[in-house]
Amino acid sequence: MPQPQAAAFESPLVVASNRGPVRFRRDTDGVLVADRGSGGLVTAIAGVLFESDATWLACAMTDGDREIAATGATTEVEPAGHAGFVDVPPERFAGYYNGISNRVLWQLHHHLFDLSYLPTWDAETREIWDDYREVNRMVAQGLDAEGGRDPVYLVQDYHLSLVPGFLRQLQPNARIAHFTHTPFAGQSFLGVLPSPMRDELLRGMLGADILGFQAERWAENFLLCARDALPDAHVDVRRRRIRIGDRTVFIRTYPVSLDPQPLRATSRSKEVKDIRKELLEWKEDASLLVRVDRLELSKNIVRGFQAFETFLHDRPEWHGKVRFLSLLPKSRTDIPEYQVYAERVREMVDMINAKFGGAGWQPIEMRTDESYERAVAAYGIYDTLLVNPIFDGMNLVAMEGPLVNRQHGSLILSQNAGAFARLGRHALAVNPFDVADTAEAIAAGLEMPHDERVRRARGLTRAVLARNPVRWLTAQLRDLDVARGIASQRAEDLEEPEGAVHLHIGDLDESFRRP
Ligand code: F6P
Repeated sequence: MPQPQAAAFESPLVVASNRGPVRFRRDTDGVLVADRGSGGLVTAIAGVLFESDATWLACAMTDGDREIAATGATTEVEPAGHAGFVDVPPERFAGYYNGISNRVLWQLHHHLFDLSYLPTWDAETREIWDDYREVNRMVAQGLDAEGGRDPVYLVQDYHLSLVPGFLRQLQPNARIAHFTHTPFAGQSFLGVLPSPMRDELLRGMLGADILGFQAERWAENFLLCARDALPDAHVDVRRRRIRIGDRTVFIRTYPVSLDPQPLRATSRSKEVKDIRKELLEWKEDASLLVRVDRLELSKNIVRGFQAFETFLHDRPEWHGKVRFLSLLPKSRTDIPEYQVYAERVREMVDMINAKFGGAGWQPIEMRTDESYERAVAAYGIYDTLLVNPIFDGMNLVAMEGPLVNRQHGSLILSQNAGAFARLGRHALAVNPFDVADTAEAIAAGLEMPHDERVRRARGLTRAVLARNPVRWLTAQLRDLDVARGIASQRAEDLEEPEGAVHLHIGDLDESFRRP
């Protein structure tokens, strides 16, 4: 194929992700209806992509999706784009999605395995790795079929790590960016994978021209993993590039951002106003601590409740004067680890309510149904927002809350959330494993003097607004053009990554300094 003529900025976009912007189901009358796709990835990028002549391919996840996939049809998505599905057979999907993506890669990238007894790799692991590989190959074939207009390919997330490699085999000249929305495991943790799988994963990602991450520390982990595992890769950690074969791959940071307009519009909607009123009546004069998370292992919900228990134990003066509203929609309920975790969370809540509650006061109110409107209503009125993930690629809750909060609410933020690089200096920082420290942060957040609250809340809002979602996309397109020599990378074009860690080149082995 000839070199592409158009700049990436002017080219059509073809996106691939596991979950897409729509999913289909048959309603009670048997009619096929489309719902908006859920999840942080869709929220973060849908608006940006569909103003850019984009086609979005996702894996068929429901029977309705598979019906659409079988016809090869695409759906129009507002304001200007098409969404289609790759027809993944259910028996492959299970091994690819629940098996490798969520029980292996998610756990590794978030450092969740309790290594004293998990994981163990066996023959079944090899079988589900085959499923993962096959689904990735199918997605690459689906992308290849969209290649007629010489598009830019934007491949999303850990589900599709092998897609860039397969697509590169099909189209040696394709322009491919892969973006990881989660953290990326460090060398030791990625090394828990059997080495053929680890190497296949890294090589698959290196099929891209650009590898994007949410935060500098995840990009750096990738560079160090590749340096460790792949003897034929020339890894330049300082310049964040890897030479492999006759290609150079750029490893970059593109932090996702929020579009404030739709969030603020939701916050002003009648439905949210009504819920906000209800919540204000329910909480009466109590101060309000809030958390909003999927009921998910990486979110550190159990330690959050342990910290609240410690806080109530150490500060009896707060009894009856604080409520902890925990909005935790269920997630991945088919996976045994998530079922056990959900039970543990429920037990903690019951224990704390029984231990400290009474006389008309229940310290924790937990809701596990999905309601975006309730979350936005709670954002509006918290005194303190608790965001304490074990590890998190970015974390949008930490950005959404401050944008619509009306109380100059304080934010408790884990040092291990990607968002910490942007928001950390205005938040109360916590080590997510340190329950005593988190209990102190809850007290500090609730007792913060008015002037400090106002100052920090202003800092949080400005830090969120300083970036916008369009920049996430355009920075990748610009770097693709640089990679192809269509644009030059002048010093002033280079963004200083958020929370950049400046490595000392003296620490590195000579062989890794090569350009
Ligand atoms: O990496 C982030 C993400 O892809 C989000 O879109 C979503 O919140 C999650 O990971 C995946 O969740 P699910 O398995 O429900 O699609």
